[in-house]
Amino acid sequence: MENQSSVSEFFLRGLSGFPEQQQLLFGVFLCMYLVSLIGNVLIILAIGTEPNLHTPMYFFLANLSFADMGLISSAVTKMLFNVQTQHHTISYTGCLTQMYFFMMFGDLDSFFLAVMAYDRYAAICRPLHYSTIMSPRACALMLALCWVLTNVVALTHTLLMARLSFCVVGEISHFFCDITSVLKLSCSDTRINELVLSGFGGTVLMVPFVSIVVSYVHIVAAVLRVRTSGGASKAFSTCSSHLCVVCVFYGTLFSVYLFPASVDSTEKDVAAAAMYTVVTPMLNPFIYSLRNKDMKGALKRLLSHRQIFSS
Ligand SMILES: *[C@@H]1O[C@H](CO)[C@@H](O)[C@H](O)[C@H]1NC(C)=O
Repeated sequence: MENQSSVSEFFLRGLSGFPEQQQLLFGVFLCMYLVSLIGNVLIILAIGTEPNLHTPMYFFLANLSFADMGLISSAVTKMLFNVQTQHHTISYTGCLTQMYFFMMFGDLDSFFLAVMAYDRYAAICRPLHYSTIMSPRACALMLALCWVLTNVVALTHTLLMARLSFCVVGEISHFFCDITSVLKLSCSDTRINELVLSGFGGTVLMVPFVSIVVSYVHIVAAVLRVRTSGGASKAFSTCSSHLCVVCVFYGTLFSVYLFPASVDSTEKDVAAAAMYTVVTPMLNPFIYSLRNKDMKGALKRLLSHRQIFSS
């Protein structure tokens, strides 16, 4: 019975690991969160209201924006709330819920990036079959598959976590319920969790990454083959924004997981996690709206309509 009695809450270190800079960091995180929400909402609205952006590429971009908002919200809202209320705890249920949504949206991000790469591959390497490869039915199917897979993965990790006992109210040395940080606090055997995390979790991030790389190898080969400079640069310009986003997402992610910091430099871990949970969702709208002429036009029209309405 003693083993079964689990704690009902955890301490969440949040930003209190940085006492001097806490207020400054709070401001920075809050700004980045708001910028990210506004940017991604604008992207979704611009795509929704602009009929010539009703193509699979932009639909998936809108979906990516949605996943980005979910990712950043699941990661930072509790931390921002805790700093303001001076509370440093998160309930057990809250922690598992946060973990679930964080993993689901994070995986969804990488799945959408993979689908977008496949879309560019189809547009550039199979232009004659593009409308059948990316038919509305096929898009809906891919979308459904992304949601089902990411939910299954997130549910598996969360249920495995729910089996564990936590004997003391430990402190999660992070600003959100990061799965590895929570595992460290358990007094049960966590070997299965670690195995599933590195096997299943690794696969879920690697499969989209490998498919993106394979898509781009084909795209680059096709662009080099075409040679007609106009067509090639046009083809590649539709990829450059996506490629930037891919580099930012996987660059920050790999820098966290491939170069794990030593045990006592949790601050470095937290800073690195802030990169892919906060910076990536914030940058995506900028990358797309600054580099992409169609997107720029749609945003301008959206914002000028707003002004007409408000005046
Ligand atoms: C996601 O993509 C589908 C089609 O692929 C589209 O119908 C839907 O509107 C998109 N979702 C968002 C939030 O834009």
